[in-house]
Parts: sequence; C-alpha cells; structure tokens
Amino acid sequence: MKIAVGCDHAGFGLKEEVVGLLKSLNIEFIDCGTNGTQSVDYPDFGEKVSGLVSSGKVERGILICGTGIGMSMVANKFPNVRASLCNDLFSAKMSRLHNDANVLVMGGRVIGKDLAYEIVKTWMTTPFEGDRHIRRLNKIRKIEEDLKTDGK
Ligand code: RB5
Repeated sequence: MKIAVGCDHAGFGLKEEVVGLLKSLNIEFIDCGTNGTQSVDYPDFGEKVSGLVSSGKVERGILICGTGIGMSMVANKFPNVRASLCNDLFSAKMSRLHNDANVLVMGGRVIGKDLAYEIVKTWMTTPFEGDRHIRRLNKIRKIEEDLKTDGK
C-alpha cells in the first residue's frame, strides 16, 4: 500500500518520527513536506496529501499539524477523502472499522512518539468492517453529490 504523509511546522517533529516508522515497516510513502520547523500554512500541505488520496494516486494519507484540527478540516473538503483526527488508539481502530478512514490525522502538540507509533500501526492494519457501515458511507457520498448539484 502506498501512502502520502504531510505536516506543517507544528507537526514536523512527529512527522519525522512517523516517516522513520514507515521505513522500518517497509511501507511505501511520498513525503509531501514540510521539511523543517519554519512556520508554514497547514492548508498547503493538507492539500497536497488529500489531493493524492482523492485522485487515487495513493491509497491513504497521514497528516500532522499542531492539534490535527486544521488538517482535518482541509482533508475533509476533498471528494473521496474520509479523514479522521485520532489522538488515541480507540479512535484509530474505530475510524478504520466503522468509517473506512483513508486519511489519519494526528496532533504533533497533543501526542508523543510512542502513542503515535501505536496509532499508525493500528490504523494501517485494521480492516474496514463493511456491512451496515457501507450504507452509512454511501449516505455521506450522497450528501456530497447533493451539495454539488443543489449547492445547499
Ligand atoms: C500552527 O500554529 C497551528 O495552528 C496548526 O499546526 C494547527 O494546530 C491548526 O489546526
């Protein structure tokens, strides 16, 4: 599975840790930056990763900003992106089982490396449960379609 990772300055430290983990797990990834602690705007990096997921160029994305909130807002604007802010293990597991989340968002100022490792490993390996959750995801898609056509 190929994934894309991205962050802003507040998520840079944790992104570097996550990149190290992905390498050790032999997971293929594209690093969309940022690549330092100089102040940048999270939408620019959220857009890069979410665009790759939305177009199907990669299967999944991981985004990290200070809280994870801004990156979540950006990612969920993109068609086909189901981004979930997971700063705990239970949310990471449920976001895969019930929501088939394809973008994991974490807060670099909220959690540390050890928890982030567990979250990423859980999120990467937990399957979507399907079943009744397919119907619910289809309803999200329908809302997206209706908003496009009705402009509501
Ligand atoms: C940057 O200071 C911070 O606002 C950003 O990383 C993020 O937490 C926004 O949601």
